[in-house]
Amino acid sequence: VACLGGIYLVREMAILLREQLNKRLGRPSLVRMTNRRGGMQEFGIAILRLLRLRPPRGAEFNDVVLHPKLKQQVMRLADATSSAKRRRMPLQHAMFYGPPGTGKTMVAQRFAEYSGLEYAIMSGGDVAPLEEQAVTELHKLFRWVHRSKRGVLLFIDEADAFLASRKNSGMSESLRNALTTMLYHTGTPSSQFMLVIATNRPHDLDSAILDRLDESVEFGLPDIDARKGMVQLYYDKYIAKPLKLPAVSSGSPMLRKPDQPNGLRRRLPGSPKPLQIPREEEVDEAAMAIVASRINGFSGREISKLFTSLQT
Ligand SMILES: Nc1ncnc2c1ncn2[C@@H]1O[C@H](COP(=O)(O)OP(=O)(O)OP(=O)(O)O)[C@@H](O)[C@H]1O
Ligand SMILES: [Mg+2]
Repeated sequence: VACLGGIYLVREMAILLREQLNKRLGRPSLVRMTNRRGGMQEFGIAILRLLRLRPPRGAEFNDVVLHPKLKQQVMRLADATSSAKRRRMPLQHAMFYGPPGTGKTMVAQRFAEYSGLEYAIMSGGDVAPLEEQAVTELHKLFRWVHRSKRGVLLFIDEADAFLASRKNSGMSESLRNALTTMLYHTGTPSSQFMLVIATNRPHDLDSAILDRLDESVEFGLPDIDARKGMVQLYYDKYIAKPLKLPAVSSGSPMLRKPDQPNGLRRRLPGSPKPLQIPREEEVDEAAMAIVASRINGFSGREISKLFTSLQT
């Protein structure tokens, strides 16, 4: 039995290795990151989901904190995409715009997972250095997109670096050709891919690109409630969990009940009575609110970095 088990394991490893190799060799150079998986990996994930070892569908957005209006807009688009994908209807194209570090890339990845699409992330800044090769690489990219069984969310970060207005006199000939290639591939609605472009400068984009977009989603800097949510999220992730402290999330089973006495008592020198430290959830929630109000103007990236810097 052990021998048979060994043979089976070696065979599975060889298949996995081949899939990884194919994935690497087949990926166009413009794709910086993708979650395209081989058949075996898909099967493995389905099994893990069945065994409840992977989060269920719908949990994809658990680590993203958004203003309720923004969340509603994102979820409406995600549900529309998901149902269009199921019915093999054309997918919508969207633009995510707003200041750096506000969750555009993060939401696009979760969005693709939620809608059952693969995602491929490319950066607009990678196109110009390719010069006349850019057109060939873009055709390669779309061939790869059309090979997908699940459909692809093609996310173009820093879109203004590549899809800027053709009226711009400083635009090189090769970049102009790359833009025309992009327009050619996105001219008719497709059930095979959804284009999501992200930019900090939406007004710089070419009007023909804007015309192809069905929805614009604005990602603003987080307001006080979103900052509180992120402070709590990143405190739990980078401080409470590694140090095995009680999480502050309300409703968490680790949270001490209000009527339970706090175990921490400190005796100050000369003090006749032990000092009763206020209950943890009171201290923590108040502290979280103070931190959130003091970091007005911080982006999500800056808040997460603040907590990673506190880890040491
Ligand atoms: N809304 C959010 N909720 C939780 N974490 C966030 C949020 N926004 C940003 N972050 C944190 O900041 C990091 C960077 O976010 P992301 O890359 O999505 O920003 P972006 O809007 O794409 O920025 P850029 O315009 O610079 O590309 C994330 O990995 C995450 O840790
Ligand atoms: Mg980004």
